[in-house]
Amino acid sequence: MLKTLVLREEKGIKQAAELILNGEVVAFATETVYGLGADYKNIEAVERIFKLKGRPHSNPLIVHLAKPEDVHLVADDVPKVFFELAKHFMPGPLSVILKKNSTVPDIVSANTNTVAIRVPNNYYVRKLIELSSPLAAPSANKSSFISPTSAEHVLGEFEGRIPLVLDGGECNVGIESTLLDLTTATPTILRQGSLSPKMLSKVLDAIKVVQPKDNLSLGCENKFSLVCKVVVASSADEAKRIYDEAKKEGFKPVYLCYDEQAKAFDGVSIAVGSTNNEVAKNFYSQLRLAEQNFDFFIVQKFTGDEIAQSIMERVRRLGAEM
Ligand code: TXA
Ligand code: MG
Repeated sequence: MLKTLVLREEKGIKQAAELILNGEVVAFATETVYGLGADYKNIEAVERIFKLKGRPHSNPLIVHLAKPEDVHLVADDVPKVFFELAKHFMPGPLSVILKKNSTVPDIVSANTNTVAIRVPNNYYVRKLIELSSPLAAPSANKSSFISPTSAEHVLGEFEGRIPLVLDGGECNVGIESTLLDLTTATPTILRQGSLSPKMLSKVLDAIKVVQPKDNLSLGCENKFSLVCKVVVASSADEAKRIYDEAKKEGFKPVYLCYDEQAKAFDGVSIAVGSTNNEVAKNFYSQLRLAEQNFDFFIVQKFTGDEIAQSIMERVRRLGAEM
């Protein structure tokens, strides 16, 4: 079995660049979630990503760039508004879909004529890209399972199968980037993230948000590795009722909620944060922990802003009844 090295970013960056240039796949931290990257032009290396993840070839990969101006490396007919967006939001948790150029292999774009690009807000990843190549990179998890927010999560799934994880600690944002399609007549959000429609409307006159039911493959259709039940509760009382019922039926339930509600809850609970930003940051890692001990998840209905909506969208994709 291959030995997987885990190195702090500053220690491992040179080696990571060499590996990428040699056609290997390397995992790295970004501000959103960890990615599994390869030279976007190296078809065999990109193919390995699909194999490692068990990802269907119909699902395209985001190309990560060192800076917005490098968009011309991969895209044609880039609209002006892209550079406006870049001025405000790049580097950052925003992926933008553009018309691809001929350097982007079909395997990266899943045989479409578009390419999604993103400039991650992580100094070492941008440096890595500069030292090697733009990186085609999905989240570093097995296809349709929960995205990783730490190097340990990545190791859990890929130890012995990739040569290196660049360890950048816990991801700050914790949920996947906002995915914005600029090839449609009206810019369209295909996946909500921490960068909300309201924030984007500083730059865009009109934005459409596609209702997720129209979009099955968005890179956040999370699954647990075991069969678990997920239910959303609108209040602590409702959570308690569901909790007691679940216990009676022989489940091991747990309530995932704001810190404040956890303190008052009469049962086992997991406090995921006191603000929606904290909840987004902690949610995936708490789910991974909880999955080891519980089989029935009661999730508080997080509310109050668009980040809460992005979190609830991920909850829905866990198969929640809501
Ligand atoms: O935050 C993120 O975006 C993370 C980090 C690593 O950058 N990456 C990520 O990649 O979440 P992934 O592959 O797990 O999710 C990206 C989603 C995919 O589900 C894919 O369907 C969609 O973006 N996508 C990529 N390229 C596309 C394209 N050309 N057209 C439409 N959708 C695209
Ligand atoms: Mg993904």
